[in-house]
Amino acid sequence: MIGDRFSAAAETYDRHARPQLALAQSVVSMIPEIYPEQILELGPGTGQLTRLLTERFPEVLIDAVDIAEKMIEHSRAKFSRFPQINWMIGDAQTFWNGDRYPLIVSSSALHWVSDLQKTFENVFQCLEPGGCFSLGMMLQGTLKELHALRKEIAPEKTPEITLPTYEETKDALQSAGFILERRKHSEEEIIYDDAKAFLKAIHEQGVTGGKVSSGNAPLNRAELSQLVADYQDLHASDDAVFATYETATFLLTKI
Ligand SMILES: C[S@@+](CC[C@H](N)C(=O)[O-])C[C@H]1O[C@@H](n2cnc3c(N)ncnc32)[C@H](O)[C@@H]1O
Repeated sequence: MIGDRFSAAAETYDRHARPQLALAQSVVSMIPEIYPEQILELGPGTGQLTRLLTERFPEVLIDAVDIAEKMIEHSRAKFSRFPQINWMIGDAQTFWNGDRYPLIVSSSALHWVSDLQKTFENVFQCLEPGGCFSLGMMLQGTLKELHALRKEIAPEKTPEITLPTYEETKDALQSAGFILERRKHSEEEIIYDDAKAFLKAIHEQGVTGGKVSSGNAPLNRAELSQLVADYQDLHASDDAVFATYETATFLLTKI
């Protein structure tokens, strides 16, 4: 289950989350010049985006809602000096506490949901008319080199579900009723020391074992060794290996 996997990665996530930090920075930079009374953050995890929010909006109340119980415990302890953050366990697909928020944010989290359309409709309901939703998503091209290799090495173990595309995400947001004010779509290559370090990093982000990089069953030892060797051969340059991350940031409003 998604919450359990992220709970397991709570202690190690930050050391390996460079692409996620860049996306969180992009989410904050998209927020217009407002000073909201309250913020809802969906999928805060270890609080990379939350920390940026506390810098940009000191003392503003933040309701931080994550599906993984251990992530919430970890972040509540880590941010104990920030009493304005209210850490809550909840599912972005259904979370509703009766409040309507002037600002909702989320980064590197909502691509995990099973029903994107339903999730965006729920976020729309939580947003106050005239409010803003700043959203950062990982998209289908993320870790494409790894997917291609896995397909070759163990075709029967490739993921059944993939991350959403840019068009699917944009269409689902508009169908939910949002007005698209700004967007940024990018593909970036992130460098790792070697293939082993790369696989360790994505494992410690809580990414393996789920729809981004794992399949219906884990790779066995021989398949894993082949994956490491082939990744090193195919995707190394200047003594490092690279992996693609496709991301998008959207600024949305509600009339
Ligand atoms: C990759 S982490 C990102 C954390 C943080 N926002 C960041 O930018 O680094 C994804 C987080 O989304 C949470 N998550 C996944 N699905 C969720 C859902 N349906 N509702 C709430 N949180 C969810 C996971 O538990 C995890 O903590």
